Amino acid sequence: MVDLKGKAAVVTGSARGIGYAIADRLAELGADIIINDINDDAAKKAAEEIASKRGVKTGHFAGDISQQEPAEKLIETCISTLGKIDILVNNAGITKDTLLMRMKKEQWDAVIGVNLTGTYLCTQAAFKAMMKARSGSIVNISSIAGENGNPGQANYSASKAGVIGFTKTVALEGASRGIRCNAIAPGFVKTDMTDAIPDKIRDEMVKKIPLGRAGEPLDIANGVAFLCSDMASFITAHVLDINGGGFRPE
Ligand code: NAI
Repeated sequence: MVDLKGKAAVVTGSARGIGYAIADRLAELGADIIINDINDDAAKKAAEEIASKRGVKTGHFAGDISQQEPAEKLIETCISTLGKIDILVNNAGITKDTLLMRMKKEQWDAVIGVNLTGTYLCTQAAFKAMMKARSGSIVNISSIAGENGNPGQANYSASKAGVIGFTKTVALEGASRGIRCNAIAPGFVKTDMTDAIPDKIRDEMVKKIPLGRAGEPLDIANGVAFLCSDMASFITAHVLDINGGGFRPE
């Protein structure tokens, strides 16, 4: 059974969507949680909701994890509020989709900044505490786009492919210190992020999924819970696809 009682977890970008579902699921399984989001009010609300629903300790830290100071403060907040950090889920992510020929450097930098640099900054800050404790589990949210590429997402797919390489290196550096690091590569999941895709394109994408439906945030949260738990104690440097079978070729 997945049991996270007594664990202290940070989930970035967890005021809504997949991040919220991850935080809520980890809390349901007993973990105390620090919610992070760039949106202060939403982060506070999510932390209060999860605490009252799941009966665990929660806190929140509003800040942009693509910047070093807030990323470090986020991890410090977890240690000062919950006493330690056992689990880090690097979930915060953004898209700024456009074809390569139209992509502005700002769009490239913004996406790499949050999705890849943010993952590096939070991981580095948590790694220090995890090394001292000689234990920890890190789960990075990548994407099917990082594995296969996707037209209009050169910045996003590069950031998510980067997350996979980063995950494998952190796993190798952490292994002898009891730190595991894995990634999840979701396929299409129903959230505000994918709601921004025009209906027609969204419907076509869902039709191509072999299991015949879009993913739910809980599908991803269940994978994170497993990877964070002792049931996955011999799993590291792994990329878990949660995508309903991917996309059928044309
Ligand atoms: P979402 O846009 O619904 O939620 C993302 C959350 O992250 C928001 O609450 C946002 O305020 C927060 N955030 C954004 N930038 C931030 C920053 N710099 N610092 C702190 N918080 C920040 O997105 P969704 O769909 O829940 O995605 C979550 C993760 O899953 C992302 O990494 C995304 O790339 C990944 N993913 C999503 C898929 C999908 O189909 N929805 C598919 C594959 C991967």
